[in-house]
Amino acid sequence: MAAIVARDLVLDYEGKRVLDHADLSVEPGEILCVSGPSGEGKSTLLRVLGGLERPSQGSIRIFDRDCDMVRPSPLDEARDDLGFVFQNCALISNMTVYNNILLPLKFRRDRIRANRRVMRSWRLAPSRLPGLGADRMSDRDLAETAEQALRNMLIYDYRNSFPHEISLGMQKRVAVARAMVLNPRALLLDEPTSGLDLLSRQSLVALVSNLNKLRKVTVVVVTHDLDLARTLDARISILSRGKLTEPRPYDRLRELDLPFVRELFAEHLDENGGSDHKMMTDAEISAELRRRGEFSD
Ligand SMILES: Nc1ncnc2c1ncn2[C@@H]1O[C@H](COP(=O)(O)OP(=O)(O)OP(=O)(O)O)[C@@H](O)[C@H]1O
Ligand SMILES: [Mg+2]
Repeated sequence: MAAIVARDLVLDYEGKRVLDHADLSVEPGEILCVSGPSGEGKSTLLRVLGGLERPSQGSIRIFDRDCDMVRPSPLDEARDDLGFVFQNCALISNMTVYNNILLPLKFRRDRIRANRRVMRSWRLAPSRLPGLGADRMSDRDLAETAEQALRNMLIYDYRNSFPHEISLGMQKRVAVARAMVLNPRALLLDEPTSGLDLLSRQSLVALVSNLNKLRKVTVVVVTHDLDLARTLDARISILSRGKLTEPRPYDRLRELDLPFVRELFAEHLDENGGSDHKMMTDAEISAELRRRGEFSD
């Protein structure tokens, strides 16, 4: 069983074809990087996978469940296994970090409760409903789950801060924590390292790597940052003219006869590659963050 399979996706914006019969397949536990020139449609592809955009054609299967392609929605039950991290983080600005993390938990509980009420009114057995158990979670249970997520992601110290009060690197961590709080099996990340300084970048790369290695989360990451792909040991697919190339490791990228790839290698990468594809350890990251005063414990 594949984790995510998209077939024959077609999407036009104002007469311009952005996705042109694009196919994608991601194995469980894999990290797939999607790269390509600016404006090529990478974010659009991710939004289509996440149910935020409706293609005019195509199908998507997520962990063996078919997504609704007529009325796509991120709330489609087939997408319960997906977490989404937006290019601009999309945190809710007038909510604290803690409340941003709590929100999906509350939302899911209330949605399941509402569904159960409807099922009961139709005299259908509510036990057939997915997510059973989540509707019985008390406010205390939800709070504990959110607090645990804050701790796991090393952002507990920031729980009472508002998004504008924390660094971009921390905002990205919060966005990942929010995407992961419902324990999805796959994570979609849009340019997670853009705008970050070296240390915040390293810390985010380690976070994604840990989610993948320790929690076996499948990852699709859209990025211009091919050092990121290399550090994560990901396979890379290039979006070019609306289609995705066959995924391949970084070392075999040069074989692709595409302007984007030629420019990339001409620009700054030699055989041994970029500057920092060695991953920092968690201990090194914590020590550096403590030195900078970003963490108090
Ligand atoms: N809602 C929209 N309405 C109209 N056109 C759009 C819309 N969203 C994106 N586009 C256009 O679709 C194309 C693909 O956009 P998209 O944001 O997916 O590219 P991208 O590869 O993510 O770019 P970047 O690398 O700069 O993030 C662009 O030409 C963009 O202008
Ligand atoms: Mg984009």
